[in-house]
Amino acid sequence: MNHNGHFEEELTDTADEGETTRAPRLGPSTQAVHGERHANPYHSVAEPIVQTATYTFEDTADLSAFMEARMWGREANGRSEYGRYGNPTVTAVEQRLAALEDAGAALLFSSGMAAISTVLLAMLPTGGHIVITDDCYRRTREFCLKFLKRLGITCSVVPMGDHAAIEAAIQDNTRLLISESPTNPYLRVLDLENFVAIAKKHRVKTLVDATFATPLNQRPLDFGVDIVVHSATKYLAGHNDLLAGVVLGEEGLIASFKNALGVMGAVADPHNAALLLRGLKTLGLRIERQNTNGQAVGEFLEAHPAIEQVWYPGLASHPDHAVAAQQMQGFGGVVSFTVKGDLQTTSRFIDALQIPLMAASLGGVETLVEQPALMSFYELSTEERLEIGIRENLVRLALGIEDTDDLIADLDQALAQI
Ligand SMILES: Cc1ncc(COP(=O)(O)O)c(C=O)c1O
Repeated sequence: MNHNGHFEEELTDTADEGETTRAPRLGPSTQAVHGERHANPYHSVAEPIVQTATYTFEDTADLSAFMEARMWGREANGRSEYGRYGNPTVTAVEQRLAALEDAGAALLFSSGMAAISTVLLAMLPTGGHIVITDDCYRRTREFCLKFLKRLGITCSVVPMGDHAAIEAAIQDNTRLLISESPTNPYLRVLDLENFVAIAKKHRVKTLVDATFATPLNQRPLDFGVDIVVHSATKYLAGHNDLLAGVVLGEEGLIASFKNALGVMGAVADPHNAALLLRGLKTLGLRIERQNTNGQAVGEFLEAHPAIEQVWYPGLASHPDHAVAAQQMQGFGGVVSFTVKGDLQTTSRFIDALQIPLMAASLGGVETLVEQPALMSFYELSTEERLEIGIRENLVRLALGIEDTDDLIADLDQALAQI
């Protein structure tokens, strides 16, 4: 198996007939469990945690050979000279993630925001411009609108789903189009083919934050997107016990981000990398259950008389259902909905839930619930919230892997109490 999770990627002639065949691409669960086959120290099945800040050299000749190789851009036997420039446990995770996304390379960071901010700082020149779709993670929007602005980089925010608005916002100095898919909290799904076509026409790069989908439900690189970002804190790690981020794309681009990471320093630590690698092994099973729970809960809520509206891309009522059905393998585990009633009615419903934990975040094995008006957007006024589409009676339910029937029974009893 090579580093991309293919047993043999090269075309091979079959012995007797001289036909050309290609070994089948392995399924995502096989890739997530096995990754690249390599010999571990002590014949260990688990990837060792290489807990070190720095690395030794045998002698000056050894050091010179390493420096010379690095100067000419050659692999120096996969080793580094200092922890900020590389770590074997981190590399193992990067290779596993690159295989899952079918990317040339992956780069791990200490958090999703570290990944996004480092990449944008690495790519954008002073005087540059970006276009970003709304209904996105609020800290990404804040980084673009406030922090990049200080460096003379401007940003146009356009409505999600409005491709004409994306194209109209492109200027001579535009370098990058950014979108999430699916988005937070309304699960809007970007038409990736259209998005890439606009970018290619105007010769700008594209970045998609695919945290809500994971490579099991959607693979933007297959559609020609240049850069994919995930908050690995969510589904990839899957256990609500660590923060990490990953950036994926073609090798040259990722190498330039690696250089920036070495300067800016938001590296993942080896213990977190090992936890993430362990979490990844069950990604296939978790996503399967979370997709099932998402669809079942979405359908249950939509049919419930106490519910005003449900947003889930697997429902025919979702504005992007057709696009999602075409480009996604599953619709994910997040369901957003409004309860009939006001802020207080909605809080009463949430407080009556027995299984979901009230917490920010998503993608872990535990179902989490939040009322965005009182959590992520607490400091805004009602009017400011409504301006960015955050209704007072909105609930975001990030489903875990609990039994579907238990989750539905719990929602039913909580709705009966409002
Ligand atoms: C879509 C999305 N992108 C990025 C992030 C940031 O990731 P992290 O919390 O790992 O920094 C989040 C976090 O909630 C998110 O939901």
